[in-house]
Amino acid sequence: MATYRRFIFVCNGSDCKKGGCKKLQKDIKELIRSEDYKGKFKIIKTKCMDFCKSAPVIVLNNEVLKRGSVELLKEKL
Ligand code: FES
Repeated sequence: MATYRRFIFVCNGSDCKKGGCKKLQKDIKELIRSEDYKGKFKIIKTKCMDFCKSAPVIVLNNEVLKRGSVELLKEKL
Protein backbone atom coordinates (compact mmCIF):
# COMPACT_ATOMS: atom_id res chain seq x y z
CA MET A 1 0.00 0.00 0.00
CA ALA A 2 1.23 3.46 -0.86
CA THR A 3 2.28 5.51 2.13
CA TYR A 4 1.54 8.76 0.38
CA ARG A 5 -2.04 9.55 -0.51
CA ARG A 6 -3.84 12.66 -1.49
CA PHE A 7 -6.89 13.55 0.50
CA ILE A 8 -10.27 14.44 -0.88
CA PHE A 9 -12.40 16.18 1.70
CA VAL A 10 -16.15 15.84 1.25
CA CYS A 11 -18.47 17.91 3.38
CA ASN A 12 -21.13 15.89 5.21
CA GLY A 13 -22.88 18.83 6.82
CA SER A 14 -26.65 19.06 6.65
CA ASP A 15 -26.87 21.36 3.62
CA CYS A 16 -24.42 19.26 1.66
CA LYS A 17 -26.43 16.17 2.59
CA LYS A 18 -29.45 17.85 1.09
CA GLY A 19 -27.29 18.72 -1.89
CA GLY A 20 -26.48 15.05 -2.48
CA CYS A 21 -23.09 14.53 -0.83
CA LYS A 22 -23.81 10.88 -0.05
CA LYS A 23 -24.27 10.01 -3.70
CA LEU A 24 -21.30 12.19 -4.62
CA GLN A 25 -19.15 10.39 -2.08
CA LYS A 26 -20.19 7.03 -3.48
CA ASP A 27 -19.31 8.14 -6.99
CA ILE A 28 -15.94 9.48 -5.86
CA LYS A 29 -15.24 6.21 -4.10
CA GLU A 30 -15.92 4.33 -7.32
CA LEU A 31 -13.67 6.71 -9.23
CA ILE A 32 -10.70 6.37 -6.89
CA ARG A 33 -11.04 2.60 -6.92
CA SER A 34 -10.76 2.52 -10.67
CA GLU A 35 -7.50 1.41 -12.27
CA ASP A 36 -5.98 4.86 -12.90
CA TYR A 37 -6.46 6.23 -9.40
CA LYS A 38 -6.24 3.12 -7.25
CA GLY A 39 -4.47 3.62 -3.90
CA LYS A 40 -3.62 7.26 -4.56
CA PHE A 41 -6.49 8.97 -2.81
CA LYS A 42 -8.37 8.90 0.43
CA ILE A 43 -11.79 10.37 1.11
CA ILE A 44 -12.23 12.26 4.36
CA LYS A 45 -15.69 13.19 5.53
CA THR A 46 -15.86 16.59 7.15
CA LYS A 47 -18.37 18.64 9.03
CA CYS A 48 -19.75 21.85 7.59
CA MET A 49 -17.06 23.91 5.88
CA ASP A 50 -19.10 27.09 5.70
CA PHE A 51 -19.79 27.06 1.98
CA CYS A 52 -23.31 25.73 2.40
CA LYS A 53 -24.80 27.81 -0.39
CA SER A 54 -22.56 25.95 -2.84
CA ALA A 55 -23.39 22.44 -1.66
CA PRO A 56 -22.11 19.81 -2.14
CA VAL A 57 -18.60 20.96 -1.32
CA ILE A 58 -15.31 19.13 -1.98
CA VAL A 59 -11.83 20.29 -1.02
CA LEU A 60 -8.87 19.04 -3.02
CA ASN A 61 -5.31 20.42 -2.77
CA ASN A 62 -6.49 23.32 -0.62
CA GLU A 63 -8.96 24.28 -3.29
CA VAL A 64 -12.68 24.44 -2.63
CA LEU A 65 -14.75 22.88 -5.38
CA LYS A 66 -18.22 24.32 -5.12
CA ARG A 67 -21.25 22.42 -6.41
CA GLY A 68 -18.99 19.42 -6.52
CA SER A 69 -19.41 16.65 -9.02
CA VAL A 70 -17.32 13.71 -10.12
CA GLU A 71 -16.69 15.39 -13.48
CA LEU A 72 -15.40 18.53 -11.78
CA LEU A 73 -13.19 16.48 -9.49
CA LYS A 74 -11.82 14.46 -12.39
CA GLU A 75 -10.61 17.65 -14.07
CA LYS A 76 -8.65 18.54 -10.95
CA LEU A 77 -7.11 15.17 -10.13
S1 FES B 1 -23.03 21.79 4.99
FE1 FES B 1 -21.42 21.55 3.60
S2 FES B 1 -20.50 23.47 3.68
FE2 FES B 1 -22.04 23.65 5.12
